Amino acid sequence: MTSVSLLGPGDEPIVLGVTTPATPVRVPTTRRYLMCPPEYFTVEYAINPWMDPTQPISTSLAVQQWTDLKDTYERLGHKVDLIEPQPGLPDMVFSANSGTVIDGQVLGSRFRAEQRAAEADHFRRWFLANGYTNVVMPERTNEAEGDFTWTGKYLLAGTGFRTDPLAHSEAQEVLGVPVISLQLVDPRYYHLDVALFVLADDLVAYYPEAFSPGSQRVLRRLFPDAVIATAEDAECLGLNAVSDGRHVVLPVEATHLAEEVAKRGFEPVFVDISELRKSGGGPKCCTMELRD
Ligand code: ARG
Repeated sequence: MTSVSLLGPGDEPIVLGVTTPATPVRVPTTRRYLMCPPEYFTVEYAINPWMDPTQPISTSLAVQQWTDLKDTYERLGHKVDLIEPQPGLPDMVFSANSGTVIDGQVLGSRFRAEQRAAEADHFRRWFLANGYTNVVMPERTNEAEGDFTWTGKYLLAGTGFRTDPLAHSEAQEVLGVPVISLQLVDPRYYHLDVALFVLADDLVAYYPEAFSPGSQRVLRRLFPDAVIATAEDAECLGLNAVSDGRHVVLPVEATHLAEEVAKRGFEPVFVDISELRKSGGGPKCCTMELRD
């Protein structure tokens, strides 16, 4: 075989196939979030392994950290709506658990723990008072965006600790979106949103060990390019992050995960959420996305 050289005298040879692909440019989209100030936040019962009612809690520190989170969203150009906190509902700050909104259709929540049950109706009334006309309350235990994550194409749905698997088909019927059930197996990662988050359409980050072997295979098949989180990333609730398609708001301890997402072209934005973590929550738990 003869090889033909296209190089003229003095030309630099061009070596094909060894250049690294350029990091994609990530474009943010403006979001609308619903948050609840942690005015009555405390840890007075234990419904997940993070909660220890004997440890001291500073409500004022929680309010300060939560306010920083809200300010961060606003600085990034997002709109934050607020719901009035209620005395006696210390976990109401975790607004992600109270509704799943896709294309203006609302599916409310039904909590597993009786201590949180009353939160669902406060949110139902908020939706009705704020212009939502399609509001359906679920029959089955359904902790909303705690266990439901919208990828833009599929609704990933966790079960194992909180949300009833039958709530998955209920969500598919009410929201009219394809639902993919995933089995959670580690009690520390009792909600899907502490084990996985969406970075951008078709790109997620997750901690494989939080899922059953079959669900790990599903995730590998759906998201072959996913960012794979380490045990350390998961243990600071690093996966409880919020992406707008470019900026990724995540706990300040999640340094390794931040490096990984930065390699993919995202911009990590750190927040300190340590006080709310004592209840098993992070940035995402405090943030319900309103997809109108
Ligand atoms: N203490 C709350 C509970 O156990 C924390 C909820 C966190 N929310 C979330 N979306 N993961 O229910």
